[in-house]
Amino acid sequence: MDIIPFILSSFLFIFFLSSSFSHFRRRKLPPGPLGLPIFGNLFQVGSKPHLSFARLAKKYGPIMSLRLGSVTSVVVSSPEIAREILQKHDEVLCDRAIPDVARGQANFHISMVWLPYGNRWRMLRQVLNTQLTHMHKLDSLVELRHKASRELVEFLKEISQRGGPDEIIGERPVAIGNLAFATALNQMSKTCFSQNVAEYESKEIQGFMKAVETVMDVAGQFNIADVFPWLKTMDPQGLRRKSKEAYGWLEEVVDVFVNKRMQWRKDSSLSSSYTHHDGDLLDSFIDYSLKDPDFTTQQFKVLLLELILAGSDTTSITVEWAMAELLLNPDIMIKLRQEITEVVGTKGEIEEADIINLPYLQAVIKEAMRLRLAVPLLIPHNSKEVVEVNGYVIPKNTQTIVNAWAMARDPCYWDAPDKFLPERFLNSNMDFKGQHFGFIPFGSGRRMCPGILLAQRMVSLIMASLVYHFDWKLPRGTTIDNLDMDDVLGLTLRRATPLLAVPTLIKH
Ligand code: HEM
Repeated sequence: MDIIPFILSSFLFIFFLSSSFSHFRRRKLPPGPLGLPIFGNLFQVGSKPHLSFARLAKKYGPIMSLRLGSVTSVVVSSPEIAREILQKHDEVLCDRAIPDVARGQANFHISMVWLPYGNRWRMLRQVLNTQLTHMHKLDSLVELRHKASRELVEFLKEISQRGGPDEIIGERPVAIGNLAFATALNQMSKTCFSQNVAEYESKEIQGFMKAVETVMDVAGQFNIADVFPWLKTMDPQGLRRKSKEAYGWLEEVVDVFVNKRMQWRKDSSLSSSYTHHDGDLLDSFIDYSLKDPDFTTQQFKVLLLELILAGSDTTSITVEWAMAELLLNPDIMIKLRQEITEVVGTKGEIEEADIINLPYLQAVIKEAMRLRLAVPLLIPHNSKEVVEVNGYVIPKNTQTIVNAWAMARDPCYWDAPDKFLPERFLNSNMDFKGQHFGFIPFGSGRRMCPGILLAQRMVSLIMASLVYHFDWKLPRGTTIDNLDMDDVLGLTLRRATPLLAVPTLIKH
């Protein structure tokens, strides 16, 4: 036998074996449950994915893969792996997995939420930072938010004087979620347009709530067209149609505000005594668009709508859950009121400047956001390249879901995780800024919520106003033991039943 060809072919054989082995190793997906043919793991996920993902993670580990129909997703459930995804490999994993319903939004291709990581997305984040969420800008718009919380207090004062079900004064329950939604919406719309888009108890506010809830709910609902992409053209559940209608409604409202302002600016610039500027976000955006041709009118209309949407829904959901926890824990409500009263005294009004002196309020809000995450699975990310995490492979173009909800309730990281204990955040340096991966209600990394500072101010102002000015009790027939605390998941996690509570004015 000729020895040279033998050695060469043996070499080639070993090389082939080792390279295909390492190739195989590199292609190893994270573990996950076996699925059914065609449907994969669909039936193991159900209507509460935050819960079923947490349950499956106990068996398959903190990084697992699930096949939903023909689509593979990776689900992450521990702070260590979340750090890998959102910090170490953030650049590869910060695209978005775009659900079919997003395409119901005519301009989804220029939407900050759905844009891939790239130049346009970066430009929008930068504009937002300089024109809205920068500390100085937030300070300059503070009066607009104060105005909205004053209106909330006035409205509630009036309600607390009305009769309840048996015409008994002081027995009239209010729906906290509606109230918080109207306030957050008006805080956002005053910030954007210096005006309310709707008044409390008006038909318009109901229209807004319905449209915003629809957009958020259908965006998180299970859609068969996402897992069997060949069904997309049919939109079998009508979810894209619903999203389109709701978006269309909201777009018309924003159009009216923007077009009016542009006309007004045009008309007044013809007058010799021209002084434009309400100083609100719309004015800043129009000014910016004159300097940067990429920031078109269409572009900032879409952005304004997204800010109103993202800001009002999450804020009001957070306030509603936090108030529910306070009603279940009256001692905490009293302690919180004491803190606010000591700081605010008889001034009669909460100001954003007071917030920094209210550590217990901050602890209550953080604890409510830990236990009741408004966006429990963040907004799913997508991989733009193959990436190896913890020895497993996430293939290119794979939806990556971070179960922030599970991490915030994991007994390995939290004592008594199911208990509402604001004290755990006192004297702790844990904040919302995405560095403590067991607590990321706003996400982390490049795609982290750009509205954190604004949201913190809005939620604090609403919560402090509700607790300082009013005492709250559950309506007749509801007790601490029978208050429904169930949740329903869309993109956001809202209460299954609206929280009702009876306000009594406190005279300071
Ligand atoms: C309590 C209130 C809020 C919560 C809990 C919240 C939470 C979140 C979360 C979890 C994300 C996704 C992060 C990720 O995908 O990794 C997000 C994205 C976003 N949020 Fe917020 N948010 C809140 C308030 C706001 C406010 C007030 C604004 C308006 C300025 C806002 C605007 C946005 C936008 C535009 C995005 C998409 C960012 C992108 O894709 O680049 N949010 N938010």
